Formats: sequence, structure tokens, C-alpha cells
Amino acid sequence: MMPMSPILLFFFLLLLSLQVSSVSVGSRAILRTLSGPDIPDAAADLNSTNFDEVLRNSPASFAIVEFFAHWCPACRNYKPQYEKVARLFNGPDAAHPGVIFMARVDCAMKINTKLCDKFSVGHYPMLFWGPPSKFASGGSETGQDKSEIHPIDDGRTADRLLNWINKKLGSSYNLDDEKYENEHLPQNASDPEQIVRAIYDVEEATSNAFEIIFDHKLIKSETRGSLIRFLQLLVAHHPSRRCRKGSAEILVNVDDLWPSDLWSVTKQEAAISQGKDALQSFRICGKDVPRGYWIFCRGSKPDTRGYSCGLWVLLHSLSVRVEDGESHMAFFAICDFIHNFFICEDCRLHFYKMCSSVSSSFNKTHDLALWLWSTHNKVNERLMVEEASPDPKFPKIIWPPKKLCPSCYLSTSKKSNGTILVEWNKDEVFKFLVGYYGKMLESSYKDKDLVREGGSSGSLVDDALASTNAVAVPVGAALAIALASCAFGAVACYWRSQQKNRKSRRIWS
Ligand SMILES: *[C@@H]1O[C@H](CO)[C@@H](O)[C@H](O)[C@H]1NC(C)=O
Ligand SMILES: *[C@@H]1O[C@H](CO)[C@@H](O)[C@H](O)[C@H]1NC(C)=O
Ligand SMILES: *[C@@H]1O[C@H](CO)[C@@H](O)[C@H](O)[C@H]1NC(C)=O
Ligand SMILES: *[C@@H]1O[C@H](CO)[C@@H](O)[C@H](O)[C@H]1NC(C)=O
Repeated sequence: MMPMSPILLFFFLLLLSLQVSSVSVGSRAILRTLSGPDIPDAAADLNSTNFDEVLRNSPASFAIVEFFAHWCPACRNYKPQYEKVARLFNGPDAAHPGVIFMARVDCAMKINTKLCDKFSVGHYPMLFWGPPSKFASGGSETGQDKSEIHPIDDGRTADRLLNWINKKLGSSYNLDDEKYENEHLPQNASDPEQIVRAIYDVEEATSNAFEIIFDHKLIKSETRGSLIRFLQLLVAHHPSRRCRKGSAEILVNVDDLWPSDLWSVTKQEAAISQGKDALQSFRICGKDVPRGYWIFCRGSKPDTRGYSCGLWVLLHSLSVRVEDGESHMAFFAICDFIHNFFICEDCRLHFYKMCSSVSSSFNKTHDLALWLWSTHNKVNERLMVEEASPDPKFPKIIWPPKKLCPSCYLSTSKKSNGTILVEWNKDEVFKFLVGYYGKMLESSYKDKDLVREGGSSGSLVDDALASTNAVAVPVGAALAIALASCAFGAVACYWRSQQKNRKSRRIWS
């Protein structure tokens, strides 16, 4: 039998883990599960109960909404035309994901009457164009938001609709475009805003990482501490609020899921399988996280980029978000996590070797962020040489490219063996990392509630409390975890002590 390469094996396992996961419901799920076995519609069928929520959460830059009536023959004839265009932009097989979200609303349904009135639908079918969030607030009385929503005057066939879109966006989409062949995202490598969409990929990568851990039973007595430390880091510094919340929920239940005093293998196995069941109800970033919907991290082939790209973005963003005093602990948490839980053997060992070569402790966020940056570049350099089937559209490059951060470069020189040596202005690199993986990455959250945190940590705490699973933790254990989690950020600490109080009340009442 041919030995499977570590990378192949990794993706094989990843595939397995993706298949096990059940289909989730919710607005984000609608954005994704647009084509099932019998290829249902690519455009999302919305009604007044989910219209606002789905549009507000759409990662796409634009939306088209078709208002129609199911009894209208012209609408029925029009449907295949609209679908042809929708398949380009919607669903897991879309050639151009993340650009336009396409939906329809049946105005002949009673519950949609008010919704259709809001948009002054005058005839069927009628198409509107605008930013998704403006549709979501389409009813705002001021009318301000409405000014960004326009009727599409010429969309009577698929060709004409796509023409209209191309004119509007200055694009050249074609009805024959296929998935992975026509990448819109990397076209402008010098646009820092590209990272904005990566927040969804970071959520997906986080979910994948934990699914792999649970599905492959990677939590053992010797790796348990490493998991706890990484969760603590996530609770305080994950760029996505709902992942912070989910991490906290897992953290507070760690003692139940994986008791530390297990010696016998059978007991351990029992606990782990029990843990897995419990975890299905947790889901580290919530139930509505996209799957297979990589946007920023989408490779030009199905098995490239994706997960590893998302994970790197997560690590970089953690590294710029920690405070100076936490930087060394964050370093350990990240290194141990990769060492114990990254399933690609080769990458794991290589990464850990670079961790081990660090001799003095990090005292500044600056140093940690730059260390991770240079490590990532070393990995890329290695892969430039070693990777068997690199993604042709995304060659591994020294990062950030000059176009993205001109001031990061002091000088470049080409060695006789072909390698390019760059002399970096490290302070500029750090500034760039902070902007890119810090502020920029978070700025995309359409649902503004998800980012608002400064000054309102009280509500973060309340939310987290309200949704927490009611598994009771022994008081002593809860206290120990509460103290441990104070290592990372006051929010996590406060949250944990609140949690502890609540749980002890429950136990004693
Ligand atoms: C509105 O849409 C939701 C989600 O697709 C669906 O569950 C619900 O049944 C719809 N309501 C009506 C009245 O069709
Ligand atoms: C790429 O992005 C940069 C920075 O936003 C912008 O200045 C430039 O005009 C863009 N180039 C193209 C071809 O769109
Ligand atoms: C961080 O501080 C410790 C103790 O103060 C010191 O030993 C270490 O060399 C410092 N590390 C760096 C990278 O400056
Ligand atoms: C190329 O040369 C540089 C220094 O001259 C060296 O650091 C680097 O490892 C060499 N690369 C390869 C692939 O041999």
C-alpha cells in the first residue's frame, strides 16, 4: 500500500470530520446550504421572519433581492434566469462567493405584505440592488438607507442581469465561470481590505480545529492542560465574539468533559465519548458558523489553503491582541496547541521546532507578533521548496508583499542561489500587523453587536451567562479554573468568577 502523505492524510481526516458534522439551521446556514442533493434553488427564499437577519449576516458586499408572486406566470418563467446568475454567487459551488448575495421574497405570501410594501414593489418580478445591511434596515423611516438601494431596470434574462452587474461593478463575470477558476479576491493584492472578510474564515478554522480535536480524541491527560491554556487565550482574545463566548463555555465545563484524575483507559474513554456528546451541543463558535465557505482563505483548488490559512490568520490576530504581560503565556499556549493538536505531522513538528528555538521569554506583544510573523515566513520559505502540489494561484510568498506594506521594506537583494533576502523595518511590520490582523480584521462584522465590547463588557458577560449550558461544575474545580483563566485578560477572569458564583448557587440551592 502506498503510504499516505501527511498532508493528504490531514485533508482526509478533515473531510471526515466535516462529514460528521450535522447540518445546522439559522441565518448563516441559509447562506451556505443553498444547494443540496436535488440542487434546490441557489437564491435564498426569504420571508419577513428571517429577511433582516439573513441579510445583516451576509458576508457578501452586495445583495440582489427579487420580489415576486408565486402565482405570476412571468415570475415562474423568470426563475431559471435568476437562478443561473444566483448559482455564480451563492452556495458552496459558487464561482464568485462573497460578492453578491441573491435572494427572493414571495410577495403573495401574507406574512411578506409589509416587507414588500417597505420596498414599494410595483410589479412582479422586481429586482433591487444594494448593500445587504441596507436591505436589512430597509424599513428605516428616515429613508436614508433606502438611497443605497436601487431597482435593477434591466434584468429580464440571465445575460442581461449579469451585464447589468458587470457594468455596475466594472467586472467581467461570465455565466460559464466555474468554481475555483475565477478568483476575484486575490486580484488586488495591495488592498488591505481583503483581510476584512477573513473573520468568517477564522471562525470556520476555529470550529474545524476543535472538531478535529474532539473527533480524533486528541485530549488526553497530558494534553489537557494545553487545551485549557489555549481556550483561555481564545476566551480573551479571539477576534470573533461568538468564538470567545463558545470558548468560555467549553472552558467552564472542562472538568466535566475531561476530568483530570483519570488513570484507567476505559474510564478515560468513557469520559471522552461523553465529552464528545456534550460538545456537539457546544460548538465553539456557535451553530451558525459557515462550513466550506472559505472566502478570504479560498484556494483555487478545493484542497488548498482553507483551514491552514484560517488558522494562521487566527494565530496572527491572537498575537497582536494580547497585552505585553500576556505575550509569553500566549506564546506557550500557541506552541503547545499546535504541537498537541495540529494533525499534520510534518507541519506540527516543524512549527514546534521553531518554538523550541526561542530561548528568552517574550516581554512584549511586539516581540511575539514579530516572532510569529517571521515563523510564518519561514514556513512559507520551506513550503516554496518542499510543497508537492502548491496552489498555482497562490504561490507562497514572503509576507507582507511590498505592495501591501511598502514601508516594511528597507531593502531587498537577490542571492546567487535565487533566494531573495529582505531587510525589514520591523517596527513598520509590527504596525502593519496590528492594523491588518487587529483592527481591520474585526471591522467587517456586519452585526455590530458582535464587535462592540469596549466599555460594555458587562453585556458580554450577561450574554455568555444567559446562554451557558447548565452543566454544573464542582465548586472547587470551578474556582481553580476561574483563577487559572485570570492569566488572560480581565474579561475572562471576571466572566469565570461570575460563572463560578452562579454554578455554586445552583449546586447549593
Ligand atoms: C419563513 O422562512 C423560514 C426559514 O426558511 C421558514 O422556516 C418558515 O416556515 C417561513 N415562513 C413561512 C410562513 O413560510
Ligand atoms: C488596489 O487596492 C489599493 C489599496 O486599496 C488601491 O489603491 C488600488 O487602486 C487598487 N487597485 C486596483 C487595480 O483596484
Ligand atoms: C524579558 O524579561 C526577562 C526578565 O526580566 C529577561 O530575562 C528576558 O531576557 C527578557 N526578554 C527579552 C526578549 O527581552
Ligand atoms: C541561499 O543563500 C542564502 C545566503 O547566501 C542562504 O541563507 C539560503 O539558505 C540559501 N538558500 C538555498 C535554498 O540554498
